[in-house]
Amino acid sequence: MIREIRLLGDPILRRTTATVERFDAELAAFLDDLVETMYGAEGVGLAAPQVGDPRRVTVIDVSEERDGSGVIELVNPRILRSTGTIESEEGCLSIPGVVETIERAAEVEVEYHDRHGERRVVAGSELLARALQHEIDHLEGILFIDYLGPLKRRMVVREWRRSMSEQGIEVAEG
Ligand code: CO
Repeated sequence: MIREIRLLGDPILRRTTATVERFDAELAAFLDDLVETMYGAEGVGLAAPQVGDPRRVTVIDVSEERDGSGVIELVNPRILRSTGTIESEEGCLSIPGVVETIERAAEVEVEYHDRHGERRVVAGSELLARALQHEIDHLEGILFIDYLGPLKRRMVVREWRRSMSEQGIEVAEG
């Protein structure tokens, strides 16, 4: 089931998430929804708070196929190691239309649980490294625009609100 994606201004995007302790059918169904919603929105990642759910869960797919074969479902992810820095363009399904260059670690290693509760580790560089950092930030209530300078950020948000209102899309203050 495709879920509604929450936009910047929705307070749930600023909350930290709760560790998952039950690896059951309900979690599996929720992961399926996250993946379906991510594909539907043509995103490379989607975190639970973006669909209004306060769990420490996110999904990522940076593959070309986008048919489920390359999806990574991360429950309770945690960055173990990050190395280097790289600047690149980034966007977010919760701030549609905004693309800005920010700095991230070039490579990261992340531990997480899969949908069955098995511990796994994924190492990524390039787009995968960026997606892992971006999505794990969502689980801490952090958005990529937080890495912009305060003036730049204010300008970007103001422009985005104007563009949303021109499209008739309602956005909460904050
Ligand atoms: Co995002």
